[in-house]
Amino acid sequence: MKVIIAKTAGFCFGVSRAIKMVEDSLNKDNYKKIYSLGPIIHNKQVVEEFQEKGVNVIEDIDQVEHNNVLIIRAHGVSPSIYDQIRVKNAEIVDTTCPFVKKIHMKVSEYSYAGYKIIIVGDEKHPEVIGIKGWDENAVVIGNDEEAQNLDISGKVCVVAQTTLSKEKWDNICENLKQNIEECEVFNTICNATSERQKEAKEIADKVEVMFVIGDPNSSNTRKLYEISKKYCENTFLIENASQVDLTILENKNIVGITAGASTPDRIIKEVIDKMSEINKTNEEEMSFEELFEKSMRTITDGEVLKGKVISVTNKEIFVDLGYKADGIIPLNEFSDDPEEKHTEMYKAGDEIEVYVLRVNDGEGNVLLSRKRIGYSKGWEKIQDAFEKGTFIKCIVSDVVNGGVIALANGIRIFVPASLISDRRVGDLNEFRKKVITLKIVDFNRQKKKVVGSQRAVLQQQREGAKKNLLKNIEVGQTIKGVVKRLADFGVFVDIGGLDGLVHISELSWNRIKHPSEIVKEGQEVEVKVLGIDKEKEKISLGYRKTIDDPWQGGIDKYEVGNLIKGKVVNLMPFGAFVEIESGLTGLVHISQISNKRILKPQEALTIGQEVEAKITEINKENQKISLSIKETLPILVDEKAEKKEEGHEIEKVPSEHKEELKLTLGDVIKKEEEKVVQTEEKKEGINK
Ligand code: F3S
Repeated sequence: MKVIIAKTAGFCFGVSRAIKMVEDSLNKDNYKKIYSLGPIIHNKQVVEEFQEKGVNVIEDIDQVEHNNVLIIRAHGVSPSIYDQIRVKNAEIVDTTCPFVKKIHMKVSEYSYAGYKIIIVGDEKHPEVIGIKGWDENAVVIGNDEEAQNLDISGKVCVVAQTTLSKEKWDNICENLKQNIEECEVFNTICNATSERQKEAKEIADKVEVMFVIGDPNSSNTRKLYEISKKYCENTFLIENASQVDLTILENKNIVGITAGASTPDRIIKEVIDKMSEINKTNEEEMSFEELFEKSMRTITDGEVLKGKVISVTNKEIFVDLGYKADGIIPLNEFSDDPEEKHTEMYKAGDEIEVYVLRVNDGEGNVLLSRKRIGYSKGWEKIQDAFEKGTFIKCIVSDVVNGGVIALANGIRIFVPASLISDRRVGDLNEFRKKVITLKIVDFNRQKKKVVGSQRAVLQQQREGAKKNLLKNIEVGQTIKGVVKRLADFGVFVDIGGLDGLVHISELSWNRIKHPSEIVKEGQEVEVKVLGIDKEKEKISLGYRKTIDDPWQGGIDKYEVGNLIKGKVVNLMPFGAFVEIESGLTGLVHISQISNKRILKPQEALTIGQEVEAKITEINKENQKISLSIKETLPILVDEKAEKKEEGHEIEKVPSEHKEELKLTLGDVIKKEEEKVVQTEEKKEGINK
């Protein structure tokens, strides 16, 4: 025996949604009483189960105790009911089906615009009563005769009860249009209903016995029965498996099954189960086990499944999921990649992996997405990275308050400004559209919260690079780096894992006041390794170029005895430093500044003064030049005697200043500034 089960059998989108909302409400641990204004759905078993769980079915709002919960069912209610609930200060769980809500809005809008409202449907049905509440003057008509006899003038708006049969609607509308001049007609029949009715008709037309499963009080179930009966004389409306009479299946080859929108899958399964007892499975047809599997397979929103392509059209792909309803991938859910053409990639019979967006799209099909497979896998990938501490690559899509949003497989990852880098960042926009690598530092899939840190990645990478650097670096090496920070005493250069210090005196052969005269932050530089302290992880670097060193050539044009012109660049208690040319500075000892006795250089010289001096010594090895201004001046009488008496002038240098004569200007400055560096380093705890 072949059994055809309607793909549209069972809960519709609106009923599934309502059931889920009620279950969520029951799961909330808030100690409030839960009421339902009328049975939640037209199915006794489901209603009883909810009652056992604590849902009190009431018929009047007066029965609601204050401050509790009231469920409005999928049929919807009139605005006056909402007002009454507010008086009770009750929390509303509004499960009104969005398709019904749409009718409420339409009626309100047209009523306000001066239209007379006609509702086509059953005036006693709760859905129609609810709709009528949105315009108390609305007229309800239920058949052709009422439509023909309607005495109405002016502008008219017509809407339908969602479960009305299409045939009935078409006929009534035809009659109305003949009677009414200005008639705005809105077919508000729910697609789920019309699809279900259409399928029932198709199945009933080709079977010998047809079962319609559902509550006899359910209007959509009764309509399914009426339609099926029209095409199959042996149609039976049953509530559950116990009402299946197996004797009527004897000698039958083909049987059909459909079910109302309020019939749970469980009851459909029980009916199929019962039918299997007659054990007349035709081996060429689908076995009852297969039928069970197909009809009872449950799928959930967010699930990733494999299916088989049924057909490919320009707008969608139809997929067999081994489920009672087929799946549809609309074009906009196929791919974000414009290069991927669905018609070229898939054909009937191909296997396809899909993500379930909605188990019921409102028309009895399963709404699928192919592009969100990546999204689902993205969550798994990020969770894995979080748990294992591995890194993931992302692209920065947006700059938001306090950080940036990075995307990985469509998942949004928040990176706070403090975790975007291991350096100070002025403007986060510099990361926009950039690919960055993140470590996931916080993850909560339920709350859709993911926090990433690029700083952690950079720090980890830097640690590895530092070890490598310290292992291989040698004094004298020339390496590339990036200026990371400028200080008064020098610059810190990132040489890949460590920041080395270029002292200000090692930046230029000339005397400079601040490192910013030579380099700027972020500049790529080539530096020479001058010193390494592996234990303290400190590297000192030089930036001055050998080629520019005046001691490597420029000095050769000078000889002892030459007269030179220079500028006083510094005054110390023991003498004055005079710059002869860029990078060459000589010391004029205090005793060689004047032909008169002076106690300090300031008595004869000022910084910046142009002076003439004689070179008295050139020490290439130690890069020192001694100068004398005094020897360019006339000899005074008493000094002549003094000189005669005491011999060479150098003997006149006081013993405490003899060491100072060996100093260059650089030595002096460096000594002073090293004190500053040590103080700064102590303060900042910085590694050179
Ligand atoms: Fe809504 Fe249509 Fe079901 S109106 S409740 S989805 S039959």
